[in-house]
Amino acid sequence: MCDLFAEYREQGVNEKLLKEIETFRAGHAVDQKVQNRVMRPDIRFYGKEIFEMAATALLEGQNILLSGAKATGKNVLAENLAWVFGRPVYNISFHVNTDSSSLIGTDTFRNNEVCLRPGPVYDCAVYGGFGILDEINMAKNDAVSVLHAALDFRRILDVPGYEKIELHDAARFIGTMNYGYAGTRELNEALVSRFLVIDMPPIEEETLFRILKDLFPDAKDAGLKQICGFFMDLQLKASHNEITTKALDLRGLIGAIRTIRAGLSPIQALAMGIVNKSFDAFEREIIGDIVETRIPEGWSSADIF
Ligand SMILES: Nc1ncnc2c1ncn2[C@@H]1O[C@H](COP(=O)(O)OP(=O)(O)OP(=O)(O)O)[C@@H](O)[C@H]1O
Ligand SMILES: [Mg+2]
Repeated sequence: MCDLFAEYREQGVNEKLLKEIETFRAGHAVDQKVQNRVMRPDIRFYGKEIFEMAATALLEGQNILLSGAKATGKNVLAENLAWVFGRPVYNISFHVNTDSSSLIGTDTFRNNEVCLRPGPVYDCAVYGGFGILDEINMAKNDAVSVLHAALDFRRILDVPGYEKIELHDAARFIGTMNYGYAGTRELNEALVSRFLVIDMPPIEEETLFRILKDLFPDAKDAGLKQICGFFMDLQLKASHNEITTKALDLRGLIGAIRTIRAGLSPIQALAMGIVNKSFDAFEREIIGDIVETRIPEGWSSADIF
């Protein structure tokens, strides 16, 4: 049984759903060749309802698209799902130069013969992997159109110049997309219609506290709570468009707390992790004020750790 089951049970995830995932696992053995791709994620995902929606859709053979603001746990969720379902992971990052051959495969010479060097989508289809199509909206539409038949009820991958292959029963695709980043595009309708879409909610204070406590078990609760409150203030201001989302950076916050643990003062650390992420002097001032209202100037590392 998967070691994360207990965690999800504790979060209150539907027992029947967990049983069905177990049945899925038991019914789909993983090929020895790709066993090393079945990876335990570093971070557990918090969010019972989102987890239930995603897992139910996957059990029903659907592909899912996780859309949301940055650092809402899209990749954390995708990796947690792959681990809970016991499947090998294929992480495929999309960018403007992604083309169909980088997804499916390219011709190569072996023993004086042209043959296919399989790409990640091909391997995912063959071994029944969970393919994480990361930032799928960064790619050009014609690059992803090769995935259409793989993503809908046909479940086939047409490899140009080779045979069509049928997808392994356990193969699923999880797209992630972020709105708001520069360079992101709208996904075209044909592609979106092949996914069930989950809109990732903004982080709640209690969840944030649990995430930080997991990462920093040695931190003082009172100090961490102040930091959580600070982040919630930022989120609120961003939702009212008083500041942009540049500074609303959970990764930056986590990085800042690491440097507090290493001895920096909270003010110094938050300057690097959050405030300076904005390159607009006026906005930096607003964010600096938010820091001041939550974090006393005299605080040192010892007030948090
Ligand atoms: N619901 C959550 N459960 C667990 N961790 C979370 C959650 N939401 C955010 N995080 C934290 O946010 C960090 C970033 O998560 P992740 O990389 O999955 O975000 P993302 O949504 O893919 O962001 P981006 O759009 O920038 O790629 C993680 O390190 C994790 O600590
Ligand atoms: Mg991501």
